[in-house]
Amino acid sequence: MYSVAKKLLVAITGFFLLVFLPVHLGGNLLLLVGKEAFNRYAHFMATSGWIRVAEILLFIAILVHIYYALKVTIENLQARPQRYKWNRASENSSLFSRIMPISGAIILVFLIIHLNSFLINGRWGSNVPTMMIDGMQVKDLYTVVATAFQSPVYVIIYELSFLFLGFHLVHGVYSAFQTTGLIINRGIRRFVMILGYLYAILIPVGYAIIPIYFLLNGIK
Ligand code: HEM
Repeated sequence: MYSVAKKLLVAITGFFLLVFLPVHLGGNLLLLVGKEAFNRYAHFMATSGWIRVAEILLFIAILVHIYYALKVTIENLQARPQRYKWNRASENSSLFSRIMPISGAIILVFLIIHLNSFLINGRWGSNVPTMMIDGMQVKDLYTVVATAFQSPVYVIIYELSFLFLGFHLVHGVYSAFQTTGLIINRGIRRFVMILGYLYAILIPVGYAIIPIYFLLNGIK
């Protein structure tokens, strides 16, 4: 496959993930509203057929994104085997773009920990607490999340991951627009750069509030 096609696949799946992040954040902010609000939402997420389809698409997008991003990174490394002393990397690209493979790897480790505790254990685990809502017995995922964030170590892992998520997004947003050819003039370049920085700050900060809230407030 041509290198351009691989980069396009990384960019298109990247756009998909850029839509997922605010949607997932919106749902998770219900944790701050209360137990019933969040568990209602979590019950819908766990039982809706449409959400199942969206989740399958999401996991395909994540796998394609990682696979082709890795291929592009390896090809780029192979294309310049000698590292010239005078080739100062900082003069050619930004720090955020150079650490994309590192920030990506950290997000992947975070995702494995995250999906294991909240998706696999929370949705299918045998000792998940339950509660009654509208006469229906539903999983109390709120308590699973709130309990996890009583551990300072867990909270630090999350907060550091969100920092690297921010680093990944600063370059990721710009790069997705660039690769898909949407940056056609200086005005759009400026707009995309501002949008990228805003997105890369607001989304991780939104996520970062949740573990700290539970660490400070305990389980209610
Ligand atoms: C404090 C922040 C977060 C909390 C409290 C949280 C909570 C959850 C919960 C409870 C689930 C279980 C499924 C459900 O929605 O019912 C879940 C699933 C998931 N989370 Fe998170 N999450 C957080 C941050 C993130 C971040 C930053 C990412 C991506 C980098 C992420 C990616 C996912 C994915 C891919 C799934 C599985 C798909 C899905 O069920 O929607 N999460 N999360």
